[in-house]
Amino acid sequence: MAVSVLVGSQWGDEGKGKIVDLLSNSYEIVARYQGGANAGHTVEIGDKKYILHLIPSGILRENVICVIGNGVVIDPIALLDEISFLEGQNISVKDRLFISQNAHLIMPYHKLLDSISESGKNKIGTTGRGIGPCYIDKYARKGIKINDLLHPEVLERKIRENITEKNLLLKNIYHHEELDVDEIIKSYLEFDAKIDQYIKDVPSYLNQAIKEGKSILLEGAQGALLDVDFGTYPFVTSSHPTSGGACTGTGIPPNKITDVIGIVKAYTTRVGEGPFPTELLDATGEKLRAIGNEFGATTGRPRRCGWYDAFLVRYSAMINGIDSVALTKLDVLSQFEEINICTGYEYNGKLLKSFPTDYERLSSVKPVYKTVPGWNKDISDCESYTDLPQATKEYLNIISEESEIKITIISVGPKRAQTFFVS
Ligand code: GDP
Ligand code: IMO
Ligand code: MG
Repeated sequence: MAVSVLVGSQWGDEGKGKIVDLLSNSYEIVARYQGGANAGHTVEIGDKKYILHLIPSGILRENVICVIGNGVVIDPIALLDEISFLEGQNISVKDRLFISQNAHLIMPYHKLLDSISESGKNKIGTTGRGIGPCYIDKYARKGIKINDLLHPEVLERKIRENITEKNLLLKNIYHHEELDVDEIIKSYLEFDAKIDQYIKDVPSYLNQAIKEGKSILLEGAQGALLDVDFGTYPFVTSSHPTSGGACTGTGIPPNKITDVIGIVKAYTTRVGEGPFPTELLDATGEKLRAIGNEFGATTGRPRRCGWYDAFLVRYSAMINGIDSVALTKLDVLSQFEEINICTGYEYNGKLLKSFPTDYERLSSVKPVYKTVPGWNKDISDCESYTDLPQATKEYLNIISEESEIKITIISVGPKRAQTFFVS
């Protein structure tokens, strides 16, 4: 049975939520493997719109079990809010949601330190959800884990130790008010009572499920170019959205993964700071943003928009080992007379052979474009590949060839039904 990894192939917001919801019809378990409430995954079903930040988008299918893996950093406030939002929509998470005992907890000081470091001059444009500071503590071996909720005395000791250190930093370096340790301990003990029921030994659960022949979809958040190692460092998130992160973030070994599905947007967007070679800072970029409704699902920030970058997607396909692609938001390009596709970058007058992730080169490359005619026709009601205009098919052929990808799913609108498989 399939154990598939689904990854964002660009800078996030490719439409992962919509495609996870669509595909989860054919999987028994959906598991998130990294990131935290920095994600905003949108699913539109009928006239209802759901934005999920922590819980996998598979939760909207009542037969699907959802899992949050150890690679995810969990903000208990965001988690409990999301659970009550879903229950308010008559979507029960009881016995359908499991959380790894090894996932780390976002603490109030993580969010505070995130906002303090973003107020300085080396801004990343984070979502302010405490992601970076939480992963810092994880790798510094000071983190507080879901496991610790099960042992109140350990939880209290660890919170006290952490806050003593953070208060020194807040007071002496940032000249900020100190944190009230007792209040924080009290609130985390209260979370414990609400979260205990979801805690699970996730690696054992998932590996047993594989033994029993169950199918699993591993849902990535963010995108490959935001990966802390393979992305456009330092303008990245602090985890591994790339497919490798699915193993370390859940406990499923690499030889059990059957395939990798890349979600690719028909143009490019980015939120926050950092180089973006095909960015359009003119009326065309504004048109993409308006038609594509490119505003952050988590922070509401306007997304930066630009042409499709085949050089970037080719790199992403290589790093992730993408077997098949779901191409989203193709309908957004319908109102453009001409469309540009970036096929490579020029740097110091020479064509680069491989994708440069370093700031110095990426911020000064010149994208090389192939210009193709648009199709000037609404495609949002197309139900199959054959329904698409010839010019759209040509656009798809060029991007597949230049990016070295195989497009198997096409999305022409935000709704579940606005999707078809390419045979
Ligand atoms: P994610 O973070 O990758 O799940 O993506 P987001 O939910 O942040 O952003 C994608 C946005 O595009 C959402 O508002 C979706 O409802 C919307 N969307 C997804 N697929 C399509 C599509 O094919 N066409 C259009 N017009 N909108 C889409
Ligand atoms: P989904 O899952 C787009 C970006 C932020 C910032 C950088 C670091 O919805 O695709 P962080 O808060 O993670 O420390 O911010 O990463 N970022 C995203 N951009 N989509 C996301 O998630 C993102 N999550 C983080 O804008 O540039
Ligand atoms: Mg998003």
